[in-house]
Amino acid sequence: MRIDVLTLFPAMLDGFLSESMLGRAREAKLLEINVRNTRDWATDKHKTTDDRPFGGGAGMLMKCEPLFAAVEELQTPGCRRIYLTPDGAPFTTAKAEELSKQQHLIFVSGHYEGIDQRVRDAIIDEEISIGDYVLTNGTLAAAVVIDALARFIPGVLGEEKSLTSESFTRNLLDFPNYTRPAVYRGMSVPEVLLQGDHGKIEKWRHAQQLAKTAKIRPDLLNKQP
Ligand code: ADE
Repeated sequence: MRIDVLTLFPAMLDGFLSESMLGRAREAKLLEINVRNTRDWATDKHKTTDDRPFGGGAGMLMKCEPLFAAVEELQTPGCRRIYLTPDGAPFTTAKAEELSKQQHLIFVSGHYEGIDQRVRDAIIDEEISIGDYVLTNGTLAAAVVIDALARFIPGVLGEEKSLTSESFTRNLLDFPNYTRPAVYRGMSVPEVLLQGDHGKIEKWRHAQQLAKTAKIRPDLLNKQP
């Protein structure tokens, strides 16, 4: 899979793309990620990428020209062009899995008060928000989406199993996990996990998931498959 990220702050992604799982996945050529500076497509002397909004209002908007030029140069037939914005559709694990199956993704990260609506209308296929809060720009949002989708690319996670027993699989939060020692500072690991009865452990974990989800994310209980 190929991913292009268009941003005004390419250095924000340096560490993120070279460390840990994603760094290894790129080295193993499981995915190709190219970070592009939108400013490279600005054509005037000052490499301008923003301007004041028509109709007035605070802040600056990203201009059409560099974004159209960049996306039109990078796009390939069938690629998905995604704009990161707080007014996009909420990002979910289902969306991460869906995106992981694409051949080519282009992430457009906005800055200032956003981008010219004509970019969104003409050269963006999909708009994604990573949550109900506003970041200073969409670069970290693109990183979040890439990180979450990479986990669904075969070979990126060490153990395939780690995908199935985790938060949001079947719309439930994860169960509590413990490792050795069995007693630490007087706190004991639940007895059921030490007895080796796998049927009992499964039941206990499911009950824990339901209880935790009911307490922290009751909204998810209405979305059971
Ligand atoms: N850009 C700024 N805030 C954002 C958010 N919450 N999600 C996606 N992109 C953004």
